[in-house]
Amino acid sequence: MTNLNDFGNEYNYPPLDVPHLLEEPFAQFESWLLHAIQNQEIEPNAMTLATVNKQYQVSARMMLLKYFDKNGFVFFSNYLSRKAAALEETKQSALVFWWAKSARQIRIEGNVEKLDEKHSDQYFAKRSKSSQCAALASQQSEILANKEILLSRYQQLKEESKNKSLSRPPHWGGYLLKPNLFEFWQGRPHRLHDRFVYQRQEEKWIINRLSP
Ligand SMILES: Cc1cc2nc3c(=O)[nH]c(=O)nc-3n(C[C@H](O)[C@H](O)[C@H](O)COP(=O)(O)O)c2cc1C
Repeated sequence: MTNLNDFGNEYNYPPLDVPHLLEEPFAQFESWLLHAIQNQEIEPNAMTLATVNKQYQVSARMMLLKYFDKNGFVFFSNYLSRKAAALEETKQSALVFWWAKSARQIRIEGNVEKLDEKHSDQYFAKRSKSSQCAALASQQSEILANKEILLSRYQQLKEESKNKSLSRPPHWGGYLLKPNLFEFWQGRPHRLHDRFVYQRQEEKWIINRLSP
């Protein structure tokens, strides 16, 4: 068995305590995201998205967060993909952000719904022609017999759309995750990390420290 025992950092970072926390988790998220950007974390908006289907099969993959506000967290994908099938079945998902340079993790859990068509259209329209063609050409999560099939579909779309704009295909668009739980984790010395969970209770967010 490959031994990875020598990996693992001692996290010598400042504490996270109640006085540092904003009352409202979206604001707390924003403050940590801005810090991650300033700290030049690689792809600060990259996150793991976990889904579960009706057979309790859990799956996770990396995604890019594109927008967030008090309504929730928005990402874009193919509506016929594996994740889309799971989201359609259970509407449940979880996000994890990991910012290694700051030793910070954020977990978010909640219900997911499709983003309204107007906002999906707006986002698609803003993408480069190459990204639009790639979204149209790829039958995400389906078996692909060889790469040439995808490349020729992509080239054909590029050719056909040279002098015209492309509209969003119905099988591609955004999702909105509406959180009911946030957890902020700060790596600390001796594995005595700081963790705070925000849980929604009606209109209020209740904050508790968790054991590491
Ligand atoms: C850093 C990173 C960001 C990604 N962002 C997205 C994204 O925003 N949307 C997307 O559909 N796939 C994205 N992917 C690809 C997904 O991880 C995944 O391969 C794809 O969505 C298919 O997943 P599924 O088969 O579970 O549906 C990203 C991959 C990486 C490594």
